[in-house]
Amino acid sequence: MRTKVIAGNWKMHKDVSGTIDLITGIKAGLGATTPNCTVIVCPPFTSLETASTLLKNSPIKLGAQNMNPESSGAFTGEISPSMLKSVGAEYVILGHSERRTLFGESDQFINQKIKKALEAGLLPIFCIGETLQERESGVTFDILKRQVTQGLSGISEQELAKIIIAYEPVWAIGTGKTASPEQAQEVHAYIRGLAASLYSTAAAEKLIIQYGGSVKPDNAKELLSQKDIDGALVGGACLAAESFLGIINAC
Ligand code: PGA
Repeated sequence: MRTKVIAGNWKMHKDVSGTIDLITGIKAGLGATTPNCTVIVCPPFTSLETASTLLKNSPIKLGAQNMNPESSGAFTGEISPSMLKSVGAEYVILGHSERRTLFGESDQFINQKIKKALEAGLLPIFCIGETLQERESGVTFDILKRQVTQGLSGISEQELAKIIIAYEPVWAIGTGKTASPEQAQEVHAYIRGLAASLYSTAAAEKLIIQYGGSVKPDNAKELLSQKDIDGALVGGACLAAESFLGIINAC
């Protein structure tokens, strides 16, 4: 069946020495055991190369947190898909709610990024989620439908197989408020149903849908045991080896 995927989104935390400490700690905690889930770390751009070197011959995979869809050019401060590939990144988080709200990223822009990431051979972790206001006004499913259909516009079924969807209710990110396992399961089942209607039942059954939003070692097991929850995108709790390992162990 689907292999669970645990990804750590470090956000704007950890300089190079902090990166060495955290990755060394995660590797030491795993020891010689190969986790029975896919584990991905997504440090800031400035730590990717260090992380890549430390992760050689380890089962832990490397991802970035964002990228520009252009391949090169006059885009001061931006990073291209091939630059990420060149430092050893395999995954890239796209459309995180902080990018959408703080940096004004639209569904169309995220769609462009997903296409360019795939073209460059990167595997997108495509984030979607409703705000508290949207949930309270009963439009959660409408918002998710818009984000999914526009974000995946022009993406083939073959390409969908390379994409992870991360459902992250914005009201649960960094707030300590987690969606209850039932609330999360309901939404995950909706997203899988949507993928079935846009593609096929077979494609939807294979689709990895992670949950994100205040995932911690003590709530991970219950969330991950839901039928349609295939992993976690972890923020705060991925910044210390012990708590990240606790979530990996919950798999
Ligand atoms: P959090 O962040 O675990 O700190 O809530 C999750 C995310 O933003 O990906």
